[in-house]
Amino acid sequence: MDKLLEVENLTKVFALGSVLSKLRITAVDNISFFIKPAEIFALAGESGCGKSTTARIILGFEHATAGTITHSGKKEAKNERVWFTEGIQAIFQDPFGTFNPLRPVERYFFETLRNYKLASSPAEAVRRIDAKLHAVGLSYEDLAGKYPSEFSGGQLQRISIARALLTDPQLIVADEPVSMVDASLRMSIVNLFKTLRDELGVSVLYITHDLATAYYVCDRIAIMFRGDIVEMGTVEEVLMNPRHPYTQLLRASIPEADTAHRWQGEIRLADTEQDEYLRQGCRFAGRCPHAMEICRSTPPPTVQVEGVQVRCYLYSEPFS
Ligand SMILES: Nc1ncnc2c1ncn2[C@@H]1O[C@H](COP(=O)(O)OP(=O)(O)OP(=O)(O)O)[C@@H](O)[C@H]1O
Ligand code: SF4
Ligand SMILES: [Mg+2]
Repeated sequence: MDKLLEVENLTKVFALGSVLSKLRITAVDNISFFIKPAEIFALAGESGCGKSTTARIILGFEHATAGTITHSGKKEAKNERVWFTEGIQAIFQDPFGTFNPLRPVERYFFETLRNYKLASSPAEAVRRIDAKLHAVGLSYEDLAGKYPSEFSGGQLQRISIARALLTDPQLIVADEPVSMVDASLRMSIVNLFKTLRDELGVSVLYITHDLATAYYVCDRIAIMFRGDIVEMGTVEEVLMNPRHPYTQLLRASIPEADTAHRWQGEIRLADTEQDEYLRQGCRFAGRCPHAMEICRSTPPPTVQVEGVQVRCYLYSEPFS
């Protein structure tokens, strides 16, 4: 089976508080997954479970504490990041934060073409920009001479996607790309990812709180909880027949993005979140209606259940 990107045993430990503090949290704890060519893969879970940290490591913005990432057959080597992000582009949550309000939006496009030496004349640059904007339902005319404030959040997010397409990426890492976009426009934007997958063969790592859009757009999904992948499989199996008690809870509550709770430079973990990160056994034991004695002392193994990977004692011998 072809793998475009493979993440193996990825771990990221953060020190909390002052330099002298000994408190550490394993924000990403030994996770492994892969993304196939032309596949939309979701990483989902509530705020603070390690989704963005995983994305930032894949994008080369953050160093892993341990683990490897293989991209198009090339394994990441320490201090060797030049080739690594080749073919990978990012889309972020806040489209207004992506563009400087004082710069015409088209400048970002010309700049990217210049940096990657992708056009030999201004006319060719405009042709290329126009083609990528068409892929997201816009045109160069819609954009020429305009500033970010002249667009809606939804339009700007489309523009970010078109800009990401300029370099013909194989993988787009989209971290909560629609959580700040008007609810009525979300589907039209996630639909674009399907079009890019089907027409251009682009893969997408879709990071989200929103299980409804994940169900609609993704092929496979990994559910994260406090740094662990607790369940992973096809979106149909995981979301329509959730096995892990946490996925069952998520399905029942479908949380909305909570931007107020986001980490913003100062670490103030809610007690429960920190407690859960530091828990010895299963990190979900404090909230799990099925928790057993062993769950509180020893982390559960990951087992395969009908093609789905589940990390829970309920499915492992001798408890299943
Ligand atoms: N630079 C950092 N230093 C210390 N802790 C961090 C840092 N970045 C993230 N964390 C912590 O790591 C954990 C995972 O954070 P991360 O941002 O990856 O979660 P997330 O799933 O993307 O959350 P959200 O849905 O709110 O975006 C959180 O407890 C967070 O507070
Ligand atoms: S391992 Fe135990 S506590 Fe954790 S989800 Fe399964 S049953 Fe619940
Ligand atoms: Mg995040």
